[in-house]
Amino acid sequence: MNLIEKIDTNRLPKHLAIIMDGNGRWAKQKGLLRAFGHENGTKSVRITVETCAKLGIENLTLYAFSTENWNRPKLEVDTLMKLLISSLKNELETLQKNNIRLNCIGNIDRLPEKAKNELLTVIEKTKNNSRMTLTLALSYGSREELLNAVKIISDKVKNNIISTDSLDESIINQHLYTHNLPDVDLVIRTSGEHRISNFLLWQIAYAEFYFTDVLWPDFKEADLYEAIVSYQKRERRFGKTSEQIK
Ligand code: FPP
Repeated sequence: MNLIEKIDTNRLPKHLAIIMDGNGRWAKQKGLLRAFGHENGTKSVRITVETCAKLGIENLTLYAFSTENWNRPKLEVDTLMKLLISSLKNELETLQKNNIRLNCIGNIDRLPEKAKNELLTVIEKTKNNSRMTLTLALSYGSREELLNAVKIISDKVKNNIISTDSLDESIINQHLYTHNLPDVDLVIRTSGEHRISNFLLWQIAYAEFYFTDVLWPDFKEADLYEAIVSYQKRERRFGKTSEQIK
C-alpha cells in the first residue's frame, strides 16, 4: 500500500500549519548562498499548496516570515521580499485554477509597499475562492497578535462596547488575525528543530505536532503524506479519557 492510500480523507486535519525551516542549511550543505535555499523553498511551497488542495485540506497556514526575521541581514530580508512578490505574481493563476483563497496574518504594514500591494491584490482577486484557504503568516508574531487583541478588547471595555463579565475565549478568538480560521489541528516543523518560534500560540492549544529532519526545500508530497498518516494514528482526547472518546 503506498502512502497516499493510507490517508483517510474523511479525517484530514481541518487546519494544517507549517513552520518551513531549513532553507539556509539546505543551501549551505550544497555550498550555495542562502538565497538559493529560499528560492528552492518556494518550490516546496507550491507542491505543498497543490497537494493540500488535492487532498481536501480546507485550511493551510504557512509561516513565511516572522516578526523576528526582520532582524536578519538586509540582503536576506530583501531577497525574501522579492521572492514573495514574484511568487504572488506567478502563483495567482494557480490559485485561481485550484479555487484557493489567499489570506494573510501578521503586521503587513511593515512590508515594503510593493510586497504589501501585491499581497492585497491577490487577496482581493481570490476572495471568492472556496476550496481551500491558504494563509501566509507574514511579519507575524503570536505575542504581537495577542497584544494587539488585548489592546482592542481593552478599548472596547473602556468604551462600554464589551463588559468584563462577558469576556470569554470566543471574544479573544474574534480579535486575533486568525478570527476567520478554525483552531490548528496539526503543526509540521521541518529541519529537525523542535520549537514553536512564536507561531499561533493561542490557536495550537490542542494541535498535534509532527517534526521531521527533512529540510524545507526537500519537503515533497511523500513527506506531507507521512505527516498526515502519523496524525491520523493519534488519539486526540482534548483532555478527556480514552474511554470517553470511544
Ligand atoms: C526558514 O529557513 C525559512 C524562512 C525564514 C522563510 C520561508 C520562506 C520561503 C519558503 C520562501 C518564500 C515563501 C513564500 C510564501 C513566497 P531558514 O532560513 O531559517 O533556514 P536555516 O534555519 O537552515 O537557516
